[in-house]
Amino acid sequence: MKIKVETKENYSLLEHNTFGIDARCRRFVEYKSIEELLSVVGQEPLLHIGGGSNLLFLGDYEGTVLHSAIRSIEHRIEGNDVLLRVGAGVVWDDLVAYTISQGWYGLENLSLIPGEVGASAVQNIGAYGAEAKDYITEVECMNLHTGLQRTFSNAECRYGYRQSLFKTPEHRGQWAVLYVNYRLSLTFSPQLDYGGIRAELERQAIALPTLTASQLRQVIIGIRQAKLPDPKIQGNAGSFFMNPVVTREKYETLAREYPNMPHYDVGEDQVKIPAGWMIEQCGWKGRALGPAAVHDRQALVLVNLGGATGQDILNLCNTVRHDVAERFGIDIHPEVNLI
Ligand code: EPU
Repeated sequence: MKIKVETKENYSLLEHNTFGIDARCRRFVEYKSIEELLSVVGQEPLLHIGGGSNLLFLGDYEGTVLHSAIRSIEHRIEGNDVLLRVGAGVVWDDLVAYTISQGWYGLENLSLIPGEVGASAVQNIGAYGAEAKDYITEVECMNLHTGLQRTFSNAECRYGYRQSLFKTPEHRGQWAVLYVNYRLSLTFSPQLDYGGIRAELERQAIALPTLTASQLRQVIIGIRQAKLPDPKIQGNAGSFFMNPVVTREKYETLAREYPNMPHYDVGEDQVKIPAGWMIEQCGWKGRALGPAAVHDRQALVLVNLGGATGQDILNLCNTVRHDVAERFGIDIHPEVNLI
């Protein structure tokens, strides 16, 4: 039987990117099954998107945009672990809320991150000391050129900070994520060491021995909401830049000039420096360039003040990058995918 999948022509992507850019694509396909996806693979060019929370469209897309509507959540208990198989189209934060409500623990610190399950495994989303890779066991994919299915183990995904095999030049754009498999726990072991969490618990007078996973989720949500703009109100894609990792030597040179510079050790010889701090030092926090601006509470976030094009955001990105490079001698790179 030949499967026919619903296709929208000359389709506006406004509702599919949190930056709120009104770009169009030639065709838009939302598939509900592997069979439906198979009926479109091999067509070129294809762009697979998730929730659109990490994308910047610089213009229209002359091809087919794919989106997964596979939204099942299967689980199996194994000893003290919960093994989950989750459709790529599940909204990430719905998964976090659902797992906590079931008493399946691990994802609390990743609460309220925008986007969908499929993209979270490509991007290795992270926040407050946790990363998706710490819970992913396997990623089930389909090759968009051949239609062949392949399962990648966690090790094969070659995860790093906001990095994976799927983002490397050889693999970029080649795979549709079908399902992501996770290992969670029936035991709640809160991770509280990332800046701000303990202080917030203290402020709310929540005693550690009584802390529940839903309370921790609410604390994380509160911290995020205080700093990060809501894309429904102001277009943005979360952190626009990655935090650069520099050599210890480079860090020490800078630290002599900026003794209060925040930093995190990455192994023995490397140090991560918050790009948001550097952007703020350059005087960009809260400043606009045309209809694009640097957010006034978190300088790592670029926002659409209304009606910005992808090019407007890119102009701001390039200007900020230039100023950071000039002042600190460090090239910062977008975390957001430019299309
Ligand atoms: N900082 C400033 N000025 C700013 C922003 C930050 O001085 O405008 C300083 C802060 O005071 C702090 C340090 O920079 O000392 C780090 O700031 P924060 O904890 O807000 O985190 P971040 O490094 O700016 C990263 C992630 C976020 C994630 C937070 C919390 C990246 C690219 N971003 O931001 O992820 O929520 O840590 O874990 O790694 C995202 O990827 O979209 C995202 C929001």
